[in-house]
Amino acid sequence: MKKQYYRYQLTALFVLLISGVLRSFGQEGKVITSGAIWPDTDGQHINAHGGGILFHEGTYYWYGEKRGDKTSSGGVAVYSSTNLYDWKNEGIALSPSNDPESDITLGCIMERPKVIYNSKTDKYVMWFHLELKGQGYAAARAGVAVSEKPTGPFRFVSSFRPNGNMSRDMNLYVDDDGSAYHIYSSDENMDLRIVKLSDDFLSATTDDTFLFRRQREAPALFKYKNKYYLITSGCTGWAPNQASIHVADQIRGPYTLLGDPMRGPDAEKTFGGQSTYVLPVQGKKDAFIFMADIWRPKNLQDSRYIWLPVRLDAEVPYIEWMDEWELNWFK
Ligand code: GAL
Repeated sequence: MKKQYYRYQLTALFVLLISGVLRSFGQEGKVITSGAIWPDTDGQHINAHGGGILFHEGTYYWYGEKRGDKTSSGGVAVYSSTNLYDWKNEGIALSPSNDPESDITLGCIMERPKVIYNSKTDKYVMWFHLELKGQGYAAARAGVAVSEKPTGPFRFVSSFRPNGNMSRDMNLYVDDDGSAYHIYSSDENMDLRIVKLSDDFLSATTDDTFLFRRQREAPALFKYKNKYYLITSGCTGWAPNQASIHVADQIRGPYTLLGDPMRGPDAEKTFGGQSTYVLPVQGKKDAFIFMADIWRPKNLQDSRYIWLPVRLDAEVPYIEWMDEWELNWFK
């Protein structure tokens, strides 16, 4: 009886060991290389700029701007991955419309799309920065779209200025209590604001707070040890500039400026990039990836990505350049 039990335990251990070895074999040699071409599973450079990532039921979904030649905007692309290295092109999550009356008619600009899941409605909700066709960057609106599936197709819902405020660079954040927020550059990018979303996430409430006036863009928020950290860029169009990090005890602030969190060559220019998102890595405690775009405005589809771990071994979280790294950097 005892012998059989040990045999059983040994077999179980063996199976566990083999599956562990196989799993790590699959990831062997995989690295994250900032600034390089990042081929998807079809061998094409990932075209999902100004992006953000949703983790849902074991899969990561990367949403971003699908760009063509020069600065043309082709809607919102979505890619899926289970390991954060290999991304499968899932097509266009939100297409520009052929209807000339639509806010998202072909020729509009869709930037910085972010998607969150609403468990009450069981829907995927996308917010993005929308500029109307032929108006340059004057419209300064938030756009909202919704889908039954993470890969879309998303249906355009509406576009507006939250509580009348201009809304350009933006991000979404879902807090631990399930409340969702839109963080946005307002008043010609001079102000940063945060507005709480309605329960279905499809509209902005009047719970809309001014954060600070400092001409910041590209907001990316994360929460660590009950504090909210907000990384932003300066305002120099596609050209890189100096990032900063703010901290607050409450999501609506007050936010305190902590300085520039980047370290290494070209740190004072965010390594040539501009923030877009901070991704919490699933299954790891206190593991965050800083995501940024190295814009190539003459051919935006060739823009590159920066993915680097957020380091938490100092008083202020910081991001240090690495040419390449593996996810097992996180313990
Ligand atoms: C940047 C902004 C980008 C894009 C660009 C257009 O400042 O972060 O998302 O709007 O300007 O020039």
